[in-house]
Amino acid sequence: MCGGHTVLTAPCWPEKRPPSLHLTLCEQALVTSGQLQYAVDPGGRLNGRLRVPGDKSISHRAIMLGSVAEGVTQVSGFLEGEDSLATLRAFRAMGVPIEGPHDGQVRVHGVGMHGLQTPQDVLDLGNSGTSMRLMSGLLSGAGLEVTLGGDASLSSRPMKRVTEPLGVMGAQVETTPEGTAPLRIRPDGRLRGIDYPMPLASAQVKSCLLLAGLYAEGATCITEPAPTRDHTERMLRGFGYSVRRSGARVCITGGGRLAGCDIEVPGDISSAAFFLVGASIAEGSDLLLEHVGINPTRGGVIAILRQMGADIEVLNEREVGGEPVADLRVRSAPLKGIRIPEDQVPLAIDEFPALFVAAACAEGETLLTGAAELRVKESDRIQVMADGLTTLGVAAQPTPDGISIRGAMLDGGTVESHGDHRIAMAFAMAGLRAGSPIVINDCANVHTSFPGFVELAGRVGVRVRYGAG
Ligand code: S3P
Repeated sequence: MCGGHTVLTAPCWPEKRPPSLHLTLCEQALVTSGQLQYAVDPGGRLNGRLRVPGDKSISHRAIMLGSVAEGVTQVSGFLEGEDSLATLRAFRAMGVPIEGPHDGQVRVHGVGMHGLQTPQDVLDLGNSGTSMRLMSGLLSGAGLEVTLGGDASLSSRPMKRVTEPLGVMGAQVETTPEGTAPLRIRPDGRLRGIDYPMPLASAQVKSCLLLAGLYAEGATCITEPAPTRDHTERMLRGFGYSVRRSGARVCITGGGRLAGCDIEVPGDISSAAFFLVGASIAEGSDLLLEHVGINPTRGGVIAILRQMGADIEVLNEREVGGEPVADLRVRSAPLKGIRIPEDQVPLAIDEFPALFVAAACAEGETLLTGAAELRVKESDRIQVMADGLTTLGVAAQPTPDGISIRGAMLDGGTVESHGDHRIAMAFAMAGLRAGSPIVINDCANVHTSFPGFVELAGRVGVRVRYGAG
């Protein structure tokens, strides 16, 4: 049994929880059987301090760039979640010697721009859109024949957004007739640089093309319709590669080399977001989130919560490995509903499940527009959140590109996460303000981005545990 629940067919024996917060055998059995459920008891407040796991976006990029660099890249604070581990395993399968992860330490022995080897099998990228979209660019240039696959969710997500511009660069990347994975990449001569006005604000598309651009003849330039996370640009510079930005346009010239370096991965603001919301909505909370990445292209969650009335202090700002980092102190505060500015949407794109819970606990109506992208994330986050909030007694009205949510007293009930990690964690926070227990189904994928979530959340006061018993 995990936490007293009996959904298992395999026996669960007493065991010590390893200090690294990895899954116990019991939890692993639940994950494998696809039955992982969270039960959240109502009430509580968040106190103390915590450090969330490493940033997922930066962890992926450290493996990718370290692999094609020359020399050793030493990564600390690496996210040992399933998504970034999928990237790590994929590069190992292409012949890159990678040591670790051991307590967040990974040592990548780069094979150089042209040193990757053809893998024997399809590269299974699990649930990870970032792995698939970024790797499609890098591998298009690297001259390998390779197929990228993933789970049911990843295999239903749109891939034409990367394969079409890659095609214009001269890459051969095939999708299914529906424009989805598996992606079959075939080596087809040298890529050509392009000048691409990106039709949507996507860091994954931008990064895919920059990584392909490393291998292209001439310059590859991308113009963003709105700012998106810039970790790829920052990290390329850290590896000694020139990236030029002028306003909304970013350019790279192919044919150079990357030099291995040390990377310290900060805590993931997307994981911290659950606690920023939890501590804001749970009366009497005072929580310190240590060593969180506060890159301005990821800062939407802080800006939006502050506009709603949240009390968030940014302390001890510093720069670590080219990325701004700070400690965030958050104290509970009464929130009010707002119209979310559309320019904040790409800057908070992964935080909306958590922000919707904040909106459900705010006074008045919160209105989100210009966020149709949320419908093609790990789940349709607009519909899935609207359904769950409705179950909890909140008036949540989805629209094609957003949602309106009217704050209310939250009931308990059983909600579906549809295997979406961020939906599961968002509803765990809703328990802080619910009138009775909440059960959340299908939570195994929390391990894609936040291993140890239940333990860490429990330690600071969230009444979440495994199983519904
Ligand atoms: C990511 C970019 C975003 C985000 C994803 C990670 C990245 O996706 O949602 O979780 O690491 O570049 P889009 O580029 O599709 O908005």
